[in-house]
Amino acid sequence: MSFNYEQSFTIQGGNFTDAGVVSVFIKRTLQKMGIPSEILRRVAIATYESEINIISYARIGIIYIRVTPENIIINIDDEGPGIENIELAMRAGYSTADEKIREMGFGAGMGIPNIINCSDDFKLTSEVSKGTHLRILININTN
Ligand SMILES: Nc1ncnc2c1ncn2[C@@H]1O[C@H](COP(=O)(O)OP(=O)(O)OP(=O)(O)O)[C@@H](O)[C@H]1O
Ligand SMILES: [Mg+2]
Repeated sequence: MSFNYEQSFTIQGGNFTDAGVVSVFIKRTLQKMGIPSEILRRVAIATYESEINIISYARIGIIYIRVTPENIIINIDDEGPGIENIELAMRAGYSTADEKIREMGFGAGMGIPNIINCSDDFKLTSEVSKGTHLRILININTN
């Protein structure tokens, strides 16, 4: 099977009403393309956790997804406070989520660790007061 697809989505910070809309759309789109379910599951988790983090912490962000016959590349760029200590942010259970975010059911500090678990390659870079960038690579292995 030969997969080819790319699309960008803008995520508005603070918009909890639409939390999950983009990641569900991506999942359905890839499902229709015939992407294997195990790959689909990993893409869905990685995009969902990234989407929630933009909504929770950033002003605005873009999720860019590209599907090739070999892999799925997800680039996420946001404008926001950035992450001061990346090593800490990647640690399971670490969270700076405020009361409002916790009331929405988030803030377990498991988002980034989950993304890492779903990625074949993961890169997180950030500039404080500017924003955060994630690059997630998921290999498509259909054999
Ligand atoms: N896009 C971002 N901009 C700024 N800070 C972020 C961003 N994403 C994550 N962080 C910081 O990294 C921490 C850990 O993120 P992670 O997604 O792992 O957990 P969480 O969002 O706190 O809780 P959960 O994802 O389990 O609901 C966050 O609490 C926040 O301090
Ligand atoms: Mg999170």
